[in-house]
Parts: sequence; structure tokens; C-alpha cells
Amino acid sequence: ERFLASLSDLGSAVAPTPNRVADRYAAVPVSSPGHFENTPDTDPAIASHRDRMRALLARVPSSTLGLDLVRVDKAGVLDELLGKAAAANWGGADRRAVLHQVGVALEKNRDVLLEVMVAEAGKTIDQADPEVSEAIDFAHYYAELSAAEVDGATPVPARVTLVTPPWNFPVAIPAGSMLAALAAGSAVVLKPAGPAERCGTVLAGIVRDALAAAGADPDLVTLLQVDEAGLGRELISHALVDRVILTGAYETAALFRSFRPELPLLAETSGKNAIIVTPSADLDLAVKDVVASAFGHAGQKCSAASLVVLVGSVARSQRFRTQLMDAVSSLEVGWPWEMRTQVGPLVEPAAGKLLDGLTTLGTGESWLLAPAKLDESGKLWSPGIRDGVRRGSAYHLTEYFGPILGIMTADTLDEAIDLVDEVDYGLTSGLHSLDAGEVRTWLDRVQAGNLYVNRSITGAIVRRQPFGGWKRSAVGPGTKAGGPNYLVGLSGWAPAPATV
Ligand code: SER
Repeated sequence: ERFLASLSDLGSAVAPTPNRVADRYAAVPVSSPGHFENTPDTDPAIASHRDRMRALLARVPSSTLGLDLVRVDKAGVLDELLGKAAAANWGGADRRAVLHQVGVALEKNRDVLLEVMVAEAGKTIDQADPEVSEAIDFAHYYAELSAAEVDGATPVPARVTLVTPPWNFPVAIPAGSMLAALAAGSAVVLKPAGPAERCGTVLAGIVRDALAAAGADPDLVTLLQVDEAGLGRELISHALVDRVILTGAYETAALFRSFRPELPLLAETSGKNAIIVTPSADLDLAVKDVVASAFGHAGQKCSAASLVVLVGSVARSQRFRTQLMDAVSSLEVGWPWEMRTQVGPLVEPAAGKLLDGLTTLGTGESWLLAPAKLDESGKLWSPGIRDGVRRGSAYHLTEYFGPILGIMTADTLDEAIDLVDEVDYGLTSGLHSLDAGEVRTWLDRVQAGNLYVNRSITGAIVRRQPFGGWKRSAVGPGTKAGGPNYLVGLSGWAPAPATV
């Protein structure tokens, strides 16, 4: 219980307790949908799919999707908008049937969502497409959960759930948060992140239309863009906001708590994630998964691999490093509407901490591959690999959120796990090993919410890999999105202690 309390106590140390305890609601028996099929992605190997992708990429440079955003520039409007949202309710509508219809509408609008993501949010199509599939999965999965039997938990209905998603997953994350809140019986106010407001506008429009078409009140979803400094505090503190689902930086969660200490907040926050590679690993597979985890969406994922820890003979030989360097230097960097692009732009030009990460080496570090700025805007960077990252250094412990990977070394697996666990965050973690004993040791010791063995560490899949963090990667009840306990966690926990 002390450990669980510490999960919602921002800033406290977290005891080394097995990961499974992190999900406070894991013990609540929820009848998870017995049969659930994940939605397939667009497949570029199929000619008709490829043609569709080409056609939509051609539309991107002149795309006007989502430009009809209505900004709120006066604090007074909040009362009106939130009042309208609070008055919206499910009435007699069948939530399960309606949410399934939302899933169908998202699939029908797949290309519209892809177009706006590529146009606005810098996503290459191979990164954007699985997001739409994930959003559709959330709709169908939460539809079923909304109808599931839950023993021993009394959900606390909220009138209005405020959803504040990040810009790096501008469809899957807002969709997942909104659909969970809707499934739990709440109305939703969606405040998209600044660099992804067109995506949020398009998404909210699709969901609102689908609600109306299925016989539910479209005002169950309200789009809100707050433009004025200081309005954030007013929004978070507003009496009609009953709870907040945030995905973003740990510091943002702390800021929300400072605005309103008793706020029921479910937040998935920062990460500094590592993949350990042991001598028993399939090194070819490890290189492939490290590259995908570190440089997909130019490393701008909370789940991205920012460190690789090489163990024993893998650390001492040059083989892994050479293969990694070859693979990374062959990646195509470019604009996202070019089909060949593998590493797209930074959403915001490199500045501050990220610019340091791309240009400055710490003591003992050297560039295995030096990152280079490729255009004047400062958005296109070739990926970088820094070798010799030392224990306790800035690079070891800091999240940079860009196309950069650091190499650390360890004599033993235990030492490698110590390095991983020294980080304050615990979002995703990976192991490449073909030794069952090593896998067991790692699973027992490593402190992260999402653990992946012999796989990339990004791209969680609804129901198969419920997604959520541990330590400073989560604030609130710690339940995982796309998992059987998420709705219970969302609607059934007592407000966290008011300590920051
Ligand atoms: N769910 C995403 C992933 O798994 C991150 O938010 O990569």
C-alpha cells in the first residue's frame, strides 16, 4: 500500500517492487472481452493500398483539413462551453453500440486522419497508419469494456473529463482518452496540443458526427483550443472539470497538480527508455528493433529507445556497433509526404535541451554517428549515436525526445538492469536475449510499465500490450490504456494526496 501511495505522490522515491504491483486495479476482476481482433494497418505490399497512400500523400502539401479551428480567447467562454459539455449526457443511448459505430467511422475516415497527421504533425505514413488502427481498436475495445461486469468497484461518474493529449500521437492518444471517458459515461472536452490542433479538430469532428449518427448527443465531445496564457490554470481549476486525462511531460502533470491539488488526474508522462542486448541475443534482430525504437518518428515518442545497454562480449566487440551504424546511416531523412522518408522532421525546431543532446557530448562520450542539421528550419536532423555514455551522466538520466541514441556498457545483465533502473522514469523497457534465465531475471527486476522481449519497445497494441508507466512515467492510478482495468482506474479511484 505504501508503494501504491507513492505512485500518486509526485517526486517521491519508488521502492523496487515488481512491475505487476504498479497496476493498482490489477486485482479487480473485470470480464475482459473474450474475443477481440485488432484492426489491420494499411499494407504497402498490396498494390491498391500503396496507390491509396500515394494519392493521399499527393494531397498533403495543399491540405486544408482541420483549419476550421475555433479558438477561445476570452476566459468567459469557458463557462459557456463547459456548461454545455456538462449538460450533455448519454441519456438512453446504448454506449456499447454507439462506441462501436465510432470505431466504424474512424475506419471510414482513415485516409482523412492520415492526411492531416502527415500535413500537420510531421508523421510519416508508416508511423501514422498504426495510430488510426489503434484509435479504432480503442473504440471497439472500450465499447466492450463499457458493458463488462466489474466486481468490487463502484465507478464514480464524471460529468466532464478534460483530455489533454500530446502532439506526437495526435490521433491514437486523444482518441483513446476520449473513448475511455465516453465509455465510462462522461462527456469530454478535448484540448489538443498546439502543434497538433488540426488533427484534434478533425478527430473531434469525426467522433461528434459518429455520435450524432448513432443517436447520441454530439456535445458529449467538445473541442477546445485555449490560446491565452493563464487560461490553462482556469481550465484545470474549473468547477465543471471533474477529472483530467493527460499525456505529456512529468512537469506538466506537476503544473496541473499545482493549479488544483485535489485534481483527479490520470497522466502518462515522460520516459527515458533502454534496450539491453546480451551476448545470447540475435544481434541482427536486436539492431533492427533498436533502430525502429530509437528513430521511428525521429525519436519523438515517450516510448522511444534513447539508450541501448550492451552486455559483456557485445559491449567489447565492434560487431553490434558497426551493424548499428550501418543501419542508422542508411535511414532516409526527409519530409513526411515523401513515401521514401524513414526519419521525418522534428515537430518543433531543435532548441534547448534537445539541441544540447544533438550537439554536445558529455565526459567520455564520442559520436559513433554525429547528428547533422540538414535544413535551415532546424527541423530535419540526421540521426545520431553517442558511444561511451557514463553512469549518472546527463544523457543517462535525461529525456531528450529526438533522433538520438546513446550506448552504455555493462559487464553483466545485473549491472545493465541497475543502469536502467537508476533512471527516474519507467515507461518502456526492452531486452534482447535468447536465454530464458536472463529473461526471468530481467522481468523480475526491471522497473518499467511496458516490458518487451525481442521486440521493438514502441507501438503497444490494444489488449495485447496495455500501455502505461511506472515511477515518474505515470501520475494517478497507474492503470494502463487499452487494458481491462483502464475504465475502472479512470472512474473508480479516490483523488490522490495533494503532495507534489
Ligand atoms: N502507445 C505508444 C507506443 O506504444 C506511445 O504512446 O509507442
